[in-house]
Amino acid sequence: MPVQSIPFLELVTPHRDLEEELVAVFKQALETAGFIGGPMVSGFEVDFARFCGTRNCVGVGSGTDAVRFALIAAGVKPGDVVVTVPNTFIATTEAITQAGATPDFVDIDERTYNMDPEQLRYYLQVQCSVDGATGRAYSKRLGRPVTAVVPVHLYGQPVDMDPILDLAERFGLLVVEDACQAHGAEYFSNKENSWKKAGAMGRAAAFSFYPGKNLGACGEGGAVTTHDDGIARKVRMLRDHGQAQKYYHDLEGYNGRLDSVQAGILQIKLRHLPAWNEKRRERAHRYQELLGSAEQELRLPYEPSWAKAVYHLYVVRVQNRDALQKHLTEAGIATGIHYPIPLHLQEAYAHLGYSKGDFPVCEGAAAEILSLPMYPGLGDEQQDRIAQNMLDFASANTTSRLSASALASNVTIHSA
Ligand SMILES: Cc1ncc(COP(=O)(O)O)c(C=O)c1O
Repeated sequence: MPVQSIPFLELVTPHRDLEEELVAVFKQALETAGFIGGPMVSGFEVDFARFCGTRNCVGVGSGTDAVRFALIAAGVKPGDVVVTVPNTFIATTEAITQAGATPDFVDIDERTYNMDPEQLRYYLQVQCSVDGATGRAYSKRLGRPVTAVVPVHLYGQPVDMDPILDLAERFGLLVVEDACQAHGAEYFSNKENSWKKAGAMGRAAAFSFYPGKNLGACGEGGAVTTHDDGIARKVRMLRDHGQAQKYYHDLEGYNGRLDSVQAGILQIKLRHLPAWNEKRRERAHRYQELLGSAEQELRLPYEPSWAKAVYHLYVVRVQNRDALQKHLTEAGIATGIHYPIPLHLQEAYAHLGYSKGDFPVCEGAAAEILSLPMYPGLGDEQQDRIAQNMLDFASANTTSRLSASALASNVTIHSA
């Protein structure tokens, strides 16, 4: 019997399981002709705000819309500098540019692959000059004010937010979380002595409901969450041509609405999200058990004690990554690389003037990271086969060794 291939992500089964309810949403839209706005959108917004622990949620057309609208509504202005990481999907920086600002970067943490707060501190204290009167930071390189920071909870791993929020307060920065890969991820804030959901820690946050996300629509979708009623009001206007009342345009906005069918679908799927996230965590633990013996060759995801990750992606690190990926492909196992080229080295950002070596941690990771199949329905047998192939590869490649920096780190996954 031919060996079944293992997909990177499997989206058919969860939708088949919910087919009746999802089709009913579409029928309801047909029967009421309620395609734009209406109770399905507002109903989902209420539920998702409750899920995130925020006062507001505003549904928008995509995660990219969500980052862009959140930045503009929070107060980012043309000519500003907005700091993020080079290890993210380009939508983060596209949205910064589309808000009229210039993206700039700080390097990531070696173990979490997310923004390193120490690098942000260095950036603000050394690479910026600080206006004595206002305390505001100006990028020495770009000669412009740094007004916002976008921490990205990549792979479903929350960023270490406390020190970033402290720095933001000190330098007057707006914090807009990119939570597009982190629906339901949690962070333990020592400052507040409580667990916080991704999307509830900055002035505003952006979510994507692209189909492959932990909470995905059957098409495009996104949302902005915020405690701030003023920001929510402005995002509602931005998504709808700058109007709060039909044909009264207080500003120029966009066509960036979440459509009703997607909202209705998301409302149903949201009820399953906690269980799906728990299954992803179980799969992550199982990978840890199965692959732990190859710690010399493979670095597994690091989940600090202050994090409850939701494993949008399960990312391992290995020195001869391309060979391992080829080996797995030949065994019928699909993998991905998130992301192979850091943003500061992309052609699209050549004008920013960065070159190789500027963000060494990110560049080192980009050459060695590999995302393994990860989804709630991933089976034991499939995981066993993936792990066996990885262990075979590791033992056959005795020269394959982790870089010294990677070896220095611990591998820990804490239970929820
Ligand atoms: C980190 C991050 N930011 C922003 C986005 C943009 O979301 P969308 O594709 O819904 O526009 C994505 C989606 O892939 C993402 O992963």
